Amino acid sequence: MDKIAKKINKLKKEKNAVILAHCYQNIEIDEVADFVGDSLYLSQMAAKTDADIIVFAGVYFMAQTAKILSPDKKVLLPRLESGCPMADMINLEQLREFKLKHPSLPTVCYINSTAEVKSECDICCTSSNAVKIVESLKTDKVLFLPDTYLGKYVEAQLKDVEVITYPGYCPTHLRIKAEDIIDMKNKYPEAKILTHPECHKSVTEISDYVGSTTGIMNYAKNSSSRQFIVATEKGVCDRLKRDLPEKEFILIKNDVICPNMKWHKLDDIYNALADEKYEIKVNKDLAQKALGCINKMLEVSK
Ligand code: 13P
Ligand code: SF4
Repeated sequence: MDKIAKKINKLKKEKNAVILAHCYQNIEIDEVADFVGDSLYLSQMAAKTDADIIVFAGVYFMAQTAKILSPDKKVLLPRLESGCPMADMINLEQLREFKLKHPSLPTVCYINSTAEVKSECDICCTSSNAVKIVESLKTDKVLFLPDTYLGKYVEAQLKDVEVITYPGYCPTHLRIKAEDIIDMKNKYPEAKILTHPECHKSVTEISDYVGSTTGIMNYAKNSSSRQFIVATEKGVCDRLKRDLPEKEFILIKNDVICPNMKWHKLDDIYNALADEKYEIKVNKDLAQKALGCINKMLEVSK
């Protein structure tokens, strides 16, 4: 193990800290992480932990969600620059305008959103439970934000529900084009195409499996196929190569990298723990309102 990783693990014990890492993180972060997974898993872990400090190796909205779920814990984001451009595509004013255009419809927000936005939505979802969450509302029309592609993917799964989406998107997943999938299918006709639902509809439509990062990893593990094309962020492909060396994983294209997720390095994690920075704080009233939206999701996802 790396010298810095050893120092982090020692400090983690001394401070009763826990490290949560999203599977888009640089793979060396796993050496010190207590939990690695998708957004749903990490929010479940953030709600459960009895550590005093949570270090979140992920993007800002994830650390903010952890703080809302565990208000008495110190939540640290090692690099403050790690925001999510999709989450920043909608603010409270834009949300209110969107709701005014379609009054009295239930509003579902992707967890990739700010606490302010969550505080005025009915229920939250992640990519792994979005279909289940919309279904749980038992309605034929919903508003969905900010990710238009995840929203439209949900609509395609639920034949009788109209999903009205806000025009947000993930710049990293939109780099993947249908032509890239077709090229790979021609090159590797036996391979299964594994895709994240933040991708464009023309991409998800021609994939073999569409799911969250953890969903993709489980599918690959349980599949009898030996070769896979990974159409999501590089971190997932790196972990699949490490965990399933008997199978072959090919990243759809080299630039499917979320720069925001990649800010955190082991040095930053060490500094975060040592100096207890950067602490994420959420105003109490706001946190209380956003908590309702997140808790409803966790309840449905139990
Ligand atoms: P999941 O963790 O739900 O797969 O979402 C991916 C993502 O883009 C997180 O920002
Ligand atoms: Fe945001 Fe996309 Fe990066 Fe996820 S992959 S954090 S949605 S920019």
